[in-house]
Amino acid sequence: MVKVVRIHKTGDPSVMKIEDVSIDRPASNEVVIRHTAIGLNYIDVYVRSGLYPLDSFPSVIGMEGAGIVEELGESVDDFAEGDRVAYPMSLGAYAEKRTIPASKLVKLPDNIDEQIAASIMLKGLTAHYLIFRTYKVQKGDPILVYAAAGGVGLIMCQWAKILGASVIGCVGSPEKATMAKAHGCEKIILYKEQDIAKKVMEFTDGKGVAVVYDSVGKDTFEASLNSLRPFGTLVTYGNASGPVAPFSPSILGPKGSLYVTRPTLATHIASRDLLLEGTSMLFDIVGAKAIKINYNQKFALTDVKKAHQDLENRLTTGSTILFP
Ligand SMILES: NC(=O)c1ccc[n+]([C@@H]2O[C@H](COP(=O)([O-])OP(=O)(O)OC[C@H]3O[C@@H](n4cnc5c(N)ncnc54)[C@H](OP(=O)(O)O)[C@@H]3O)[C@@H](O)[C@H]2O)c1
Repeated sequence: MVKVVRIHKTGDPSVMKIEDVSIDRPASNEVVIRHTAIGLNYIDVYVRSGLYPLDSFPSVIGMEGAGIVEELGESVDDFAEGDRVAYPMSLGAYAEKRTIPASKLVKLPDNIDEQIAASIMLKGLTAHYLIFRTYKVQKGDPILVYAAAGGVGLIMCQWAKILGASVIGCVGSPEKATMAKAHGCEKIILYKEQDIAKKVMEFTDGKGVAVVYDSVGKDTFEASLNSLRPFGTLVTYGNASGPVAPFSPSILGPKGSLYVTRPTLATHIASRDLLLEGTSMLFDIVGAKAIKINYNQKFALTDVKKAHQDLENRLTTGSTILFP
């Protein structure tokens, strides 16, 4: 039997139950891994609350983990027992052990430990596709990043700065402002009290930014559109304050022929080639220590309710790891 966190219905953090279950033997294309670190992500909140619906109950939640291969399906030949591996986006991570298709896994290089891997697989691959694929950040671009001291935020701000962007970060507190500044942000907006678009125009001599990476959603959609320069791109990629309300595309013309896109990591790692391309760039930049990775919160898996509460109450910075 292995300890897992399952939900039998959606709702607040109390719906997460610590349970002992038996896990499936691996099918021919699968492996069993023993988790040594599990990543906490905002998508776990959406799944738990019901914003992102599940196919069936009960369900082990959690999307990201790292650990050791313990058992191999008969047709798996690119992994071996004892390999250190990680994955970014596969439901069922809140568990001591799990069965998973081998195609979802990547091997960890020697210079990426499992705690770092559980801090970067989902968040770092998201930062990667956002700045290299969704909108290709160029040297000199002014860009706006929400939740700049968060998990995705701290990675994205550092990486965009390396690409030569001038990063404006929105953060929820002065402490987060200090952290965001130490991780790539040139300018800060305390967006609980300051007018976002007005500050952006002040920082950019009235021109606006080339791209807004908005993970907050409902509360900031309008301010994000009003912060863009003509032909600018709004990348709305999260719903921390709730999903963006329906809107008419006709509002985009008068604001400067703007672009709006709503990408997901799932599409960007849908093929093995896409997954390996992103992972290779991520491991190179993190392995070279050009980007600092912070897992600022650590919880036992059994304390997962507190971890969710802290994430939803905006009390976390950087990445959070759960230990089985
Ligand atoms: N589309 C994709 O492919 C994809 C993939 C990964 C993540 N995401 C999204 O990226 C975002 C960041 O994920 P993460 O796991 O790294 O989380 P995170 O940024 O570490 O945590 C969320 C942060 O959002 C900010 N926030 C603003 N309004 C909030 C509200 N009403 N309630 C709660 N938080 C609020 C808070 O920072 P401040 O206090 O500084 O405002 C909070 O710390 C999430 O929206 C997530 O859904 C999307």
